[in-house]
Amino acid sequence: MQANEKLSQLMQRGTDLLGSETAIMCGAMSWVSERNLVSAISNAGGFGVIACGAMTPDLLDTEILETKKRTTRPFGVNLITMHPDLMELIAICGKHQVSHVVLAGGLPPKGSLEAIKETGAKVICFAPAMALAKKFIRSGVDAIVIEGMEAGGHIGPVATSVLAQEILPQIADQVPVFVAGGIGTGEMIAAYLEMGASGVQLGTRFVCAHESIAHPDFKKAFIRGNARDAVTSVQVDPRLPVIPVRALKNKGTEEFTRKQIEVAKLLDAGEIEMGEAQLQIEHFWAGALRKAVIDGDVENGSVMAGQSVGMVKTEESVAEIIKSLTEEAIVALSR
Ligand SMILES: Cc1cc2nc3c(=O)[nH]c(=O)nc-3n(C[C@H](O)[C@H](O)[C@H](O)COP(=O)(O)O)c2cc1C
Repeated sequence: MQANEKLSQLMQRGTDLLGSETAIMCGAMSWVSERNLVSAISNAGGFGVIACGAMTPDLLDTEILETKKRTTRPFGVNLITMHPDLMELIAICGKHQVSHVVLAGGLPPKGSLEAIKETGAKVICFAPAMALAKKFIRSGVDAIVIEGMEAGGHIGPVATSVLAQEILPQIADQVPVFVAGGIGTGEMIAAYLEMGASGVQLGTRFVCAHESIAHPDFKKAFIRGNARDAVTSVQVDPRLPVIPVRALKNKGTEEFTRKQIEVAKLLDAGEIEMGEAQLQIEHFWAGALRKAVIDGDVENGSVMAGQSVGMVKTEESVAEIIKSLTEEAIVALSR
C-alpha cells in the first residue's frame, strides 16, 4: 500500500467523524480561534474549532454566523463546561446546526451532553485520564481528545506520550481518539496514528498562520520561542487549586503569582468564596491572553504556547502548514 493511502486509512475514522479531508484538528485557542482561522483551517481540509472561552451567547451567535459566511465545510465550537451560560451556548450551537461541539474543562454539568446530542451535533470531550474517558464513552460521546502537558494553555499533569500509551490501547477501538499536546511535525502525527489514534489536535503550530489574527508581536514571540521557554504556571497556595497554564516565560507569568497571593488573601479574610476565587483566576487568564494576542503586549500579557513552539519557524498559510504536516506523515509512514 502507498504511504498516502496508509495515512488516509489510519485517519479514516477521524475524517468520517469530522467530515474533513484530513483528521488534523486545530484545537480551539481563546482569542486566536475565531472566524478567520477557523474557516481557513476547514477550507484547507482540516477541522477548525471556534474557541467560545468566556464569550456571551450573543458573541458566540455572531462568531458562528461569520464563520459560516467564510466556509461551507464542517467546523466545531469549543465550550468550557464551567461557563455559567453553558446551556444557552448549547442552544446557540443548536440554532446554527453546528455539527460538532467540543467540551473542555472537566465533567460536563448534568444534562449538557444530552442537550448537545438533541441538537444533532456530535460531542467530542477532553479526557485527561482513563477513568474519565471510560465515563464519557458510557455517556455516549462521539470522540475523545487526550491532551498532554506539553500543550499550550490550560493543561493536565501527564505527558502526551504517557496518556497515549495508557489510553489508546484501551479505548481506541470504541471511539475515535484525537491526540493533542506537543505535536509539531507530521512524523509525530504518524506515530500516534500508528498507536491507534484516529487523528490529532494541534494548537501552537497554527498560531503563526497568515490567517491567524494574533498580533504580529505575539507571532514573533512564537517564532523566537524555544521549547524550554514554554513553562507552566506555579501554584502558590495549596488551598487554591489553580489549573496550570503553559505559556512563554515573561513578566505576565510573575504577575500571575502575584494575583494568586492577592486572591489567597481575600480567601483568608473570608471576603470571597472558593468558587469566586477560582473564577477570578480564570478571568485573569482570559484578560492576560487577550492583552497578548490582540494588543500584542507580550511582556505583560499571557503568551500561552506549547512546547512545540520551537518548531514554529515562520509565518505560513494554513494550507502550507497542513501540507507539510501531511507530507512529513507520509514520509514517516513510507519508512
Ligand atoms: C494560545 C492558546 C489558547 C488556548 N485556548 C484554549 C481554549 O480556550 N480551550 C481549549 O479547550 N483549549 C485551548 N488551548 C489548547 C488547544 O486547543 C490545543 O489542545 C493545544 O494547543 C494542543 O497542544 P499544542 O499547543 O502542543 O499543539 C489553547 C492553546 C493555546 C496555545
